[in-house]
Amino acid sequence: MKHLLKMMDLSTEEITDILNLADQLKYELKHDIAHPHLKGKTLGMIFQKASTRTRVSFEAGMFQLGGHPLFLSSKDLQIGRGEPVEDTARVLSRYLDGIMIRTFDQKEVEDLAYYGTVPVINGLTDITHPCQVLADLMTVREIKGQFDGLKMCYIGDGNNMANALTVGGLKVGMSVSLACPADYSPHESVLEFTKNYPAFTLTTSPEEAIADADIVFTDVWASMGNENEIIERRKAFVGYQVNEEIMKLAKPDAIVQHCLPAHRGEEITAETFEKHAAEIFEEAENRLHAQKAVMVRLMG
Ligand code: CP
Ligand code: NVA
Repeated sequence: MKHLLKMMDLSTEEITDILNLADQLKYELKHDIAHPHLKGKTLGMIFQKASTRTRVSFEAGMFQLGGHPLFLSSKDLQIGRGEPVEDTARVLSRYLDGIMIRTFDQKEVEDLAYYGTVPVINGLTDITHPCQVLADLMTVREIKGQFDGLKMCYIGDGNNMANALTVGGLKVGMSVSLACPADYSPHESVLEFTKNYPAFTLTTSPEEAIADADIVFTDVWASMGNENEIIERRKAFVGYQVNEEIMKLAKPDAIVQHCLPAHRGEEITAETFEKHAAEIFEEAENRLHAQKAVMVRLMG
C-alpha cells in the first residue's frame, strides 16, 4: 500500500491488517504504552472543506506517534489561488513525509499522489471517505466481534459515505443493502464494483434495506458542497429517516452508525441518535486509531 486514495484500492488483507494495527494502537493508547512509530516525521494536512473529526484526529494521532502535523488550509495555501496541484505535490514532497488532503474532486487527490513522491491519504472527497470507513469497520468488528454473517444497511444519499461503505463492507464479507432515492444513487464506479458481489442490494425502499440489518448507517442529506440543494433534497429524502419506527425492522440488537456531523430531525431523529450515542461516539473515536494505523503503514 503506497497511498490511501479510495477503498477500492485496498485488498481485504490490507483492510484487516489496518484494523488489527488500529486495535493494537487503541490498546496501547488506553494503557499508556508509548508508540512513537513516526518519530521525526511530518504530515501536511490540506483542507479545502471544513472538518472537526478529521483534522483533530489526524493532528492528535500524529502527535501521539511522535510526529508533527501541519494544518494547511487551502485559504492560505497558494493552491487556493490557483497554483496547480502537480506543482504543490512536487514542492510539498520535498518537505513532508506524508500528505492528507480533504477536497472536492477525487482527481485532485489522485494527481497529488501521481505527481508527489510521498504517501497521500484521502481525508474525504465528493465520492469517497476511506478514513471514515476504516474507522466504521473497526467499530463494527469491535462491537459485533466479526464481519461474517452480518448485514449492513445504509439509508440516505448515495454520497461519499454510501460509496465507501459499500466497497468496504463488501470487501470484509458483510452483505450490504442500500436504500437511496432514485436520483441519488451511489457513484457508477461503485455500482460497477458491486456487480461481482451478490451480497449487495440497492433499493429505493428503506424498509427493504433495513430488514434484519445488524448495522444501520446513515449520513446527511446534503454533503459539503451540496448545501444549496437542501430544500429540494429535504423533499427527495422524505421517508429516508432513521427513526424508532423503522429501527423495528432491523435486528433487535442492531447498532446505528453515523460519521457525523448529524442533522437531527433530517436523516436521523434525536431519539434514535441518543439511543445509539455510545456506538456513534465510539465510531468517532476510532477515527483516531484507524488513521494512526494508516499513517504507520504508509509512513512508518
Ligand atoms: N466524519 C468526518 O469526517 O467529520 P469531519 O467532517 O468533522 O472531519
Ligand atoms: N457526506 C458528508 C460527510 C461529512 C463527514 C459530506 O461530505 O459532507
